[in-house]
Amino acid sequence: MHLKVVERLYWCCLLFIVALSGAAAVIHVSGYEGRDVNVSCSYGEGYESYEKYLCRNDCGNSDVLITTTKAKKNKYSIYDDKKRRVFTTTLSDLSSVDAGKYWCGVTRTGKDIYTEVRLFVCICQLGDLSGGGPH
Ligand SMILES: *[C@@H]1O[C@H](CO)[C@@H](O)[C@H](O)[C@H]1NC(C)=O
Repeated sequence: MHLKVVERLYWCCLLFIVALSGAAAVIHVSGYEGRDVNVSCSYGEGYESYEKYLCRNDCGNSDVLITTTKAKKNKYSIYDDKKRRVFTTTLSDLSSVDAGKYWCGVTRTGKDIYTEVRLFVCICQLGDLSGGGPH
């Protein structure tokens, strides 16, 4: 009866392990469906006053989700901690379509600075654990 739940947990853990074992150059973030997740990216000294943003896929103009110039948009919000040189984008109400490839960017003249981000969304129905399992 609880097999489905176990299966789900298994996939969940597997994703976390994949996330943890990835290359250091890529930031791996995991979140739960329906919850929020924070994507934090650090940047180099001297870029404190530059615009930061988060984009998806190939990071074309229409792929930019949010920038520090407009701190809140739809399900995204962004905060730049200039003391720690880390900017954090919060994605709220995660769903499976949010999983995938993102880029943290710093706008500058010439080529922007990019950091790759992989977001995993864990479809864990925690309620199943206390309930009678899937029907
Ligand atoms: C994301 O960061 C904000 C601000 O630091 C914090 O209040 C919130 O709890 C964090 N959310 C998660 C899911 O870690």
